[in-house]
Amino acid sequence: MRPNRSFITLDEFTIRETRRFPKATGELATILRDIGLACKLINEKVKKAGLVDILGAEGATNVQGEEQMKLDVFSNDILKNVLENSSECAGVASEEEEDFVVFDDEYSNNSKYVVLFDPLDGSSNIDVNASIGTIFAIYKRTSKLGEACNEGDFLQKGRLLMASGYVIYGSSTMLVYATKLGVNGFTLEPAFGEFCLSHPNLKCPEDGSIYSINQGNYNKFDDDVKSYLDFCMDNENKKSYRHRYIGSMVSDLHRTLIKGGVFMYPADKQNEHGKLRLMYECNPLSFIVETAGGKSTDGKGDPILDIEPQELHQRVPIYIGSKNMVDKIHSFKKA
Ligand code: AHG
Ligand code: MN
Ligand code: MN
Repeated sequence: MRPNRSFITLDEFTIRETRRFPKATGELATILRDIGLACKLINEKVKKAGLVDILGAEGATNVQGEEQMKLDVFSNDILKNVLENSSECAGVASEEEEDFVVFDDEYSNNSKYVVLFDPLDGSSNIDVNASIGTIFAIYKRTSKLGEACNEGDFLQKGRLLMASGYVIYGSSTMLVYATKLGVNGFTLEPAFGEFCLSHPNLKCPEDGSIYSINQGNYNKFDDDVKSYLDFCMDNENKKSYRHRYIGSMVSDLHRTLIKGGVFMYPADKQNEHGKLRLMYECNPLSFIVETAGGKSTDGKGDPILDIEPQELHQRVPIYIGSKNMVDKIHSFKKA
């Protein structure tokens, strides 16, 4: 008798997707599996973060006499280590690394992909036990196979992404990823440690009622952003808006994707490029939201995904989420 199984794991799903393309080799499925493994290891550490007072704080030594590591650094090292051991990754770039990292060995030099990541996003939320995440972006390299990867492999515009995704360490742990085929979400089943398909074919609602922004920066914003926020707060407004801001882009974005709404991190008087990073925050999340039918722009009308990157740690203003809400913001922008 065949076992009756109602779930499908991340690995099974990506392999099934690969089979839809006779020429596909399954390399992308391998990278996604490797990132899934790294994030399960990060998840284990994140879930124990509240125990640092008992087990030893950062900078202190624990009972075994080992240095305690900051979670951002730990997450970065795990992702780097797992991807270096992967058979399909030529190099990585990370929020925590000043320059890109080349895995200059025979196997890696023959790998087709490079990965960029924000190993731990929203890390200031760890102290208050709120959701945090990991964001990743996967590109096919443009340099010659057999040679070490180079900067050009990383500095590709978001439109050229092969896949991108995030893991949210929340009340449950979820991995959401997008390819051109669509966006799918997987929830970690702790009993057997596998991400299982829970949110197939995710679509970002066309409209929403939640706006998400650090409103404490109001006085620093340009007039058009202020006017949009005034519009959202206007009690005479036919539609009533709600403001939600966790301060962890992955968490705010996850809510926006599921429930609809808009997330903004505009430029302001002090930061003309905003705060968030193009290559490992805005591009991968924009690719997910656009693939799910939403919209993401820099506020000037240019899609985030079409920005030609100049440097790894480049910042960009972002307006992302339900299509109608992003369009509405643009109607407040001066021509
Ligand atoms: P990180 O923890 O990777 O540095 O990212 C924090 C980011 C992002 O997650 C969040 O949306 C934003 O910073 C919050 O910034 P403010 O505190 O300025 O609102
Ligand atoms: Mn971040
Ligand atoms: Mn980070």
